Amino acid sequence: MGRAFVYVILGGGVAAGYAALDFVKRGVTHGELCIISEEPVPPYERPALSKGYLLPEDPARLPAFHCCVGTNEERLTPKWYKEHGIELVLGTRVKSVDVRRKTLLTATGETITYKILIVATGARALKLEEFGVSGSDAESVCYLRDLADANRLVNVMQSSSGGNAVVIGGGYIGMECAASLVINKINVTMVFPEAHCMARLFTPKIASYYEEFYQSKGVKFVKGTVLASFDFDSNQKITAVNLRDGTKLPADMVIVGIGIRPNTSLFEGQLTLDKGGIKVNGRMQSSNSSVYAVGDVATFPVKIFGETRRLEHVDSARKSARHAVAAIMEPEKTTEFDYLPFFYSRVFTLSWQFYGDSTGDVVHFGDFLGNRFGAYWVNKGHVVGSFLEGGTKEEYEAIAKMTSLKPAIEDLTDLETQGLGFALTF
Ligand code: FDA
Ligand code: NAD
Repeated sequence: MGRAFVYVILGGGVAAGYAALDFVKRGVTHGELCIISEEPVPPYERPALSKGYLLPEDPARLPAFHCCVGTNEERLTPKWYKEHGIELVLGTRVKSVDVRRKTLLTATGETITYKILIVATGARALKLEEFGVSGSDAESVCYLRDLADANRLVNVMQSSSGGNAVVIGGGYIGMECAASLVINKINVTMVFPEAHCMARLFTPKIASYYEEFYQSKGVKFVKGTVLASFDFDSNQKITAVNLRDGTKLPADMVIVGIGIRPNTSLFEGQLTLDKGGIKVNGRMQSSNSSVYAVGDVATFPVKIFGETRRLEHVDSARKSARHAVAAIMEPEKTTEFDYLPFFYSRVFTLSWQFYGDSTGDVVHFGDFLGNRFGAYWVNKGHVVGSFLEGGTKEEYEAIAKMTSLKPAIEDLTDLETQGLGFALTF
C-alpha cells in the first residue's frame, strides 16, 4: 500500500510547523502536502518544554504552544492542518528513504512517494552510554528532547519534591532545567567538565554572573569532572551519582543534557553530509535536487561568515524552513538564505539574547552587579557578535542590526567605553 504527495516534510518539529505555514501562505493545494512525524502530536514550539512546561503552577500545555505562536503567527492546531488539506501522519517513524526512487518507508509498512522532500528530522539527545556510563535507562534519569521526555520529567520532579537533583551538563538544557528544578523546590547540583557553564558561548566573566545568580538560588556547581556511575538501592532506584573525581552526590533524580546528534542516519550514503548535518546550498537544497534540509539537521552557508554552519536553535529552524518553502514554491523570486545567527535563553527573572558569532576578542560592557550587561566579539577588526542580558526590545533590535553590519572597530577600549551606546547609534 502507499500514498503519493507533491511535498513531504519528514519530521514534525519546529521547522515542519513553520514550513507548513509558509506552504499555506504560498498557496499549496489540498492534498499536496504531507507531514510525517514520530511524535503523536502536530508541530509545537519545542523551547517551551524546558521553560513554561515545567512550571509548578499553571504550566504550559498543548494545544497552547503549537507552532507558530513563537513568532506571533497563527497557532497551527490539528484543525488548521485539516482545514488546509495537509495530511498529518503522526506517531509514525520513517525507517528508510530512497532518494533515487523518491520514496519513504514507514515503520507501519507504508510506502510514501514525493516529488519534493523536506528533511526536518532535528536531532536526538546524546545518551550517557555513549560516554561509557551505564544505567541511564533508570526511572529517575531524565533526558529532554520531546513531549514524552517532558511528561516523564514532570512526573519524576513531582515525586522528588524537596529532594536532590543532579544535573549533568552545563549547556542550555542543564541551565534551563536547573532553574526549573529550583522553582519546583528541588535541591540542585550541576556537574560539567568545563571550567564554567555555557562554555560554547559564555566568556568566564559572563558565566560567573549566571553561576553567582544560580548560587544565590541555592544551586551548587561541581566543575571540571563528569559522571562515572550510579548507585542503586535494592529496588533499582538511583540513590547517588559518583563523579570521576571521587565525589558522591545523593540523588533522587538526574537530568542529563550533554548535547545532541542530528538525525541524519536515513541519508548516510545518499546525501552529502558536512559538520554532522546534511549539507545544503543557500536555497536549503541538498546534494540531491529534490531533497531540501532545514533546522537542526541542516548545514548551510552562513553568508555573513563566509562558511557553512549547523545551528541548533529555534530561530534558525523557523527561518531556514520558511526559506526552503520560498525556494521551492517561488524559485525565481528567492535569493540565497542570508541569516544572522540568533540564540536566546530565559531563566528565573533573567533573559539574554546573542547575535552573530562568538569568535575573536571580547569586550564586556554594562553593569555586571545589576542585571544589564553585555559583550561584543571583535574579529579581524570587525564586530562579529553581540550579547545582551536584560535588554529592551529596542536594544535587542539595535545589537542585531549593528552585528549584521559588521562595523569596523579601531580601538577596543573606545568600544568598551561606549558599551551598549555603540549599538544604539546604528
Ligand atoms: P525538532 O527536533 O524540533 O523536530 C524534529 C522532528 O522530527 C521531531 O518531531 C522528531 O520526532 C521527528 N523525526 C526525527 N526522525 C524521524 C523519523 N525517522 N521519522 C519520523 N519523524 C522523525 N532553541 C532556542 O533558540 N531557544 C530556546 O529557548 C530553545 N529551547 C529548547 C528547549 C528544549 C527542551 C529543546 C530540546 C530545544 C530547545 N531549543 C531552543 C532548540 C530548538 O528547539 C531546536 O533548534 C528546534 O526544535 C529544531 O527544530 P527542528 O524542526 O529542526 O527539529
Ligand atoms: P549543549 O551543547 O548546549 O551542552 C552540552 C553540555 O554537555 C556542555 O556544556 C557540557 O557541559 C556537557 N558535557 C559534554 N560532555 C559531557 C560529559 N561527558 N559529562 C557531563 N557533561 C558533559 O547541549 P544541551 O544542553 O544538551 O542542549 C541540547 C540541545 O538543545 C542543543 O542543541 C541546544 O542548542 C538546544 N537547547 C537550546 C536552548 C536555547 O537555545 N535556549 C535551550 C534548551 C536546549
